[in-house]
Amino acid sequence: MTDRTCLAVILAAGEGTRMKSALPKVLHKIGGLEMVGHVMAAASAAGADALALVVGNGAELVRSFAETRAGTGTRQDIFVQEERLGTAHAVLAARAAVSRGYDDVLVVFGDHPLLDPAVLRNARARLAEGAAVAVLGFRPPVPTGYGRLIEKDGRLVAIREEKDCSEEEKKITFCNSGVMAIAGRHALALLDQVKNDNAKGEFYLTDIVEIANRQDLVVVASEAGNESAVGINNRAELAEAEAVWQQKKRRELMLSGVTLIAPETVFLSHDTQIGADTVIEPNVWFGPGVRVASGVRIHAFSHLEEAVVETGAAVGPFARLRPGAAVMEKAKIGNFCEIKNARIEPDAKVPHLSYIGDATVGAGANIGAGTITCNYDGFGKHHTEIGAGAFIGTNSSLVAPITIGTGAYVASGSVLTENVPADALAFGRARQSTYEERGKMLREKLAAEKAAKRSGG
Ligand code: UD1
Ligand code: CA
Repeated sequence: MTDRTCLAVILAAGEGTRMKSALPKVLHKIGGLEMVGHVMAAASAAGADALALVVGNGAELVRSFAETRAGTGTRQDIFVQEERLGTAHAVLAARAAVSRGYDDVLVVFGDHPLLDPAVLRNARARLAEGAAVAVLGFRPPVPTGYGRLIEKDGRLVAIREEKDCSEEEKKITFCNSGVMAIAGRHALALLDQVKNDNAKGEFYLTDIVEIANRQDLVVVASEAGNESAVGINNRAELAEAEAVWQQKKRRELMLSGVTLIAPETVFLSHDTQIGADTVIEPNVWFGPGVRVASGVRIHAFSHLEEAVVETGAAVGPFARLRPGAAVMEKAKIGNFCEIKNARIEPDAKVPHLSYIGDATVGAGANIGAGTITCNYDGFGKHHTEIGAGAFIGTNSSLVAPITIGTGAYVASGSVLTENVPADALAFGRARQSTYEERGKMLREKLAAEKAAKRSGG
């Protein structure tokens, strides 16, 4: 890595009207993370020491999102661009950050969630070699709408926006991705010379290319992969980018040793961690905050978020792990079980049709089918403690707060409201009554009544 200092200016003041959303565009998510969060992560991964977010519409929401990403060690400041007068004007909204003085200033767009950190590092490398401006170009299948890169003798002489292009220039297929690296010592001087005498009447960041050339500074273009240039404008594009992102993340996991039987049906989050030799069956959803260790099996149709599954455990099919679920080594969560804010200790089993919420299930305990922890009384949530080796009979309701002792035995169909000591046997149900012959008598009586009614009516 370089020892050059770096600021990344992230432009996110766009209206995003085509998203047709109350939410600012850059807060729409890919892989469970806000688009601008992906861009921030890419900039940090490329070595940015500070991030300057330029926001307009929905500034407060973007600010509060950015705050959730604070504490990563990278300084971040928010700048509000009051009027949307163009990309150069937007960068200048972060003048205070730029003037702190960095070797490299990266300019990226907040709606480019697939931005590759390698592309940013490459642009910075061009500055380290002496360029004043390094532009990342790409070759879109259809260049319409993009700024064209005009090169001469291996140097980039201008970027022409489509609306300002001649017919000849429109034929150029090498386009501006939007990513630019500017040598910090020239940045403000170049930006301050940008004028708005163009078709859109905007202050174009791209004009610094011609300005730098007039000053005999070195300006270069290099080619980036097309993904880094993908900007999201509507929900259809959002879904396309999601698909690309998912495919990449799945592949990354598979190459690290995770088996995905039908990868296209497994949905991952930006922070999903899965250990080697874990098998993920088809149709599994990983919301944010999930860590699965190695040698685990996640059976089909399971839904996990903010949960941990330790080595050798099994989950599903049709299981739901909600926030705070911790399934420890070799524990088993079976079909139609929901686990929330509960720790299932090693070798414990919750095999069928249970709700375990706000609870601890001790090591090796067995939870019978249909067991419910009644954790909510309409006002507050209460804890259930089940000791190691306890046996909870099927269809039991454990009314929290309650403790079932180590090795205790709970009879099927119990409704328990009081603690059960270790090794005790608890019944929480009415006793069974059986009356010989009375079934037959009842049937005869009912038949006679029905016959009487029919002849009478
Ligand atoms: C821009 C580039 C174009 C490039 C294209 C790639 C300029 C002048 N043109 O065009 O060469 O091919 O991106 O997608 O830079 N923004 C602000 N404040 C503003 C204006 C824009 O924050 O005042 C932000 C937008 O939110 C967006 C980004 O800057 O994230 C790009 O702006 P946009 O208007 O979409 O630029 P394009 O016309 O697409
Ligand atoms: Ca655009």
